[in-house]
Amino acid sequence: MRSSPKTFHVKSFGCQMNVYDGERMAELMAAQGLTAASDADSADLVVLNTCHIREKATEKVYSDIGRVRKAQAADGRKPMIAVAGCVAQAEGEEIVRRAQVDVVVGPQAYHNLPELVARAADGKAALDTDMPVLSKFGSLPRRRKVGPSAFLTVQEGCDKFCTYCVVPYTRGAEVSRPFAAIVDEAKALVDAGAREITLLGQNVNAWSGAEGGLDHLIRALDRIPGLARIRYTTSHPNDMTQGLIDAHRDVESLMPFLHLPVQAGNDRVLKAMNRSHTRDSYLRLIDRIRAARPDIALSGDFIVGFPGETEAEFTDTLSLVDAVGYAQCFSFKYSPRPGTPAADMADQIAPAVMEDRLARLQAALNRHQAAFNAATVGRTCQVLLERPGKLPGQLLGKSPWLQSVIVAGTGAIGELVEVEIASAGPNSLVAAPTIRAAA
Ligand code: 5AD
Ligand code: SF4
Repeated sequence: MRSSPKTFHVKSFGCQMNVYDGERMAELMAAQGLTAASDADSADLVVLNTCHIREKATEKVYSDIGRVRKAQAADGRKPMIAVAGCVAQAEGEEIVRRAQVDVVVGPQAYHNLPELVARAADGKAALDTDMPVLSKFGSLPRRRKVGPSAFLTVQEGCDKFCTYCVVPYTRGAEVSRPFAAIVDEAKALVDAGAREITLLGQNVNAWSGAEGGLDHLIRALDRIPGLARIRYTTSHPNDMTQGLIDAHRDVESLMPFLHLPVQAGNDRVLKAMNRSHTRDSYLRLIDRIRAARPDIALSGDFIVGFPGETEAEFTDTLSLVDAVGYAQCFSFKYSPRPGTPAADMADQIAPAVMEDRLARLQAALNRHQAAFNAATVGRTCQVLLERPGKLPGQLLGKSPWLQSVIVAGTGAIGELVEVEIASAGPNSLVAAPTIRAAA
């Protein structure tokens, strides 16, 4: 027996879906009467919402558990530790054996967190990694207070089985939340202060409802009064329908930004990754998207050093980067994940080779990002102000193309202001307000 926690802290690692899940867990614990602690070192209950995508991310949870325990032990305290997220799903009881944590809860079961915490307080085993058919979303409390830019998970899971990726195993098969539930949550988010909503899913553009695909959902959300901006992420090239491309042309609140991972630029590598698109089909798709929305900012994910990748194959990735001209990107060294087909492939690439390729790829991506940012200087655009800046009088917001913008001297958080971009650095822009406020 141990006492029930009175304060909690949720720490999320990894992707934006984890950020969303972490927020929902915090709302759930607050609805149980627990108080949010400002950091993990002072909380009675520490929820670590973990990521399993690469080995480094997975190991982080174990070092964090040790760190929190040590910090609290110095004050004679022993927190209750709950491991949530994809490491919980993938490793289950192994985490209890390795780190003696109190609660293990998978990404599809976190609506049961209060019950699991109560069980742990009673000294009982508290592990739930079920993937129930009935969605957890119905059991979560209504959203009450959010910032100007909010996340909304509309789709979870993945049926694509890229050979390097753990997501189909940790998040399960592709499931779309029902249309009405999403529209309800979007309205609640707007009532709670959101002006921008980013629709989330591992394959968000695979979302489907009774009446149509993601484009249909976006057109419905566009009609919600007070919702100024819509974004969505992450997309798979094969689910990029003509309807969705057309929405980028027609729907004004749909922002001109698209995260469309390609992973590699060589067809043999793409086939070995089981990506089910080619270099050429991806480039033709980009052409169609740009025809619909010429100013769209493109983003992507890349993996270097996939098993068997030759130097010549890697240079195909570099030339694809030049052909597309991305506005921003994420790039990673291949990390073998237990249970995935690629982990058993011959010709694993030496760490030094991966290091070298990642540095060359990132130099190219940085060059394109700087060029994209520089090209926006002198343009007038709207910025959604989201938080205070570093210096007094500054506010930070996002441009339509998802660039961070520092705005001096005008507006309040939550406002859309019209600005002129004055200068551009590699990672952010500086803007001055134009005379006329946009909203
Ligand atoms: N190794 C390295 N990067 C990976 N990703 C997914 N699995 C792995 C892995 N085993 C990257 C992909 C994906 C992003 C979310 O993480 O680029 O798009
Ligand atoms: Fe992983 Fe591929 Fe699914 Fe993306 S599409 S989550 S990379 S399996």
